[in-house]
Amino acid sequence: MKGLILSGGKGTRLRPFTYTGAKQLVPVANKPVLFYAIEDLVQAGITEIGIVIGPETGDQVKQAVGDGARFGARIEYILQDAPRGIAHGIKIAREFVGDEAFVLFLGDNFIRDGIAAQVRAFRDNAMNAQIILYRLDDPSAMGVAILDSTGRVTRLVEKPKQFVSPYAVIGIYMFDRNVFDAVNAIKPSARGELEITDTIQWLIDRGLNVRAHLLEGWWIDTGKMADILEANRLILDILESRNAGQVDSASRIEGRVVLEPGAVIVNSLIRGPAIIGERTRVENAFVGPYTSIYHDCVIQNCEIEHSVVLEHSKIFHAPARIADSLIGRHAEVARADGHAKTLKIMIGDYSKVGIL
Ligand code: TTP
Repeated sequence: MKGLILSGGKGTRLRPFTYTGAKQLVPVANKPVLFYAIEDLVQAGITEIGIVIGPETGDQVKQAVGDGARFGARIEYILQDAPRGIAHGIKIAREFVGDEAFVLFLGDNFIRDGIAAQVRAFRDNAMNAQIILYRLDDPSAMGVAILDSTGRVTRLVEKPKQFVSPYAVIGIYMFDRNVFDAVNAIKPSARGELEITDTIQWLIDRGLNVRAHLLEGWWIDTGKMADILEANRLILDILESRNAGQVDSASRIEGRVVLEPGAVIVNSLIRGPAIIGERTRVENAFVGPYTSIYHDCVIQNCEIEHSVVLEHSKIFHAPARIADSLIGRHAEVARADGHAKTLKIMIGDYSKVGIL
């Protein structure tokens, strides 16, 4: 089997980060979301992987991932000229996939327990397609699946207005070559995209064997800020302590904390679970639970918790504790000169700031 990861798209829900960066490279516990997908494929024995990239962020993705050697995989890139839909991503991967079966993995989807069991089930049970379902009390924002008593998928409904099933379809799928007939037959939807829901429904309507696997561990679509913080929390919860950095005698490390190589902690308290990235300096500061600070940052004279800070950012001073925040690349928070009780801010389009 081969693997196909979609890592293009618009990323409108994660602006402003997606103006300058690929959303699939946003770090969760200091590792890009996309890397977890690659690792899941490799762990399931799938090492030939194609990554669909878009024209704006494709080079960044290529640079971060490389040829796959560090993952024990062989990675090829497939350029999608515009975000024309998930099924369009399949269509343009025809040559890469050939006649093999493959796993389609949306590059911003994130699951806890990997995909080895599902891949085995797909291989062993002569399915034409397998979808993965996640039980939600309110799946109305997603595509849902309706199953018959044998577990066969009989119908998919996109964003149902009335409750028809608790089973949301997540962004990991398995297909055999029949899917190429489907993506060539379907027409773009009202929003102008080739839809994955229509693709799978086409297979069902032709009587092909479409099965479902119900996921038991957690699943997160990291397309929004709250989801990134949640994914970060869940990974930090299972991370083991490691200290490859430097901690001075005036500092305290409490709980599970990872200090990556070159991290420097001076006169500070780090209360885990937390991770401090390579070459990041934390000085006169408090870093509280569920915080990930990525590489080459400076955190000074401030308190921060339950937050994710991206690379090369500097927080020099914050009069109040920073919490529940996602801070972008090369961002800076510093003390303002001038009148008390004024705020001096320069923030990008679609940014959000909460002020007490
Ligand atoms: P989505 O999150 O459904 O779409 P999006 O990236 O355009 O984001 P938003 O809704 O916030 O505007 O995409 C799921 C994954 O598939 C994501 O990793 C991007 C990728 N993708 C492509 O590579 N090509 C596409 O044409 C589409 C629609 C998505």
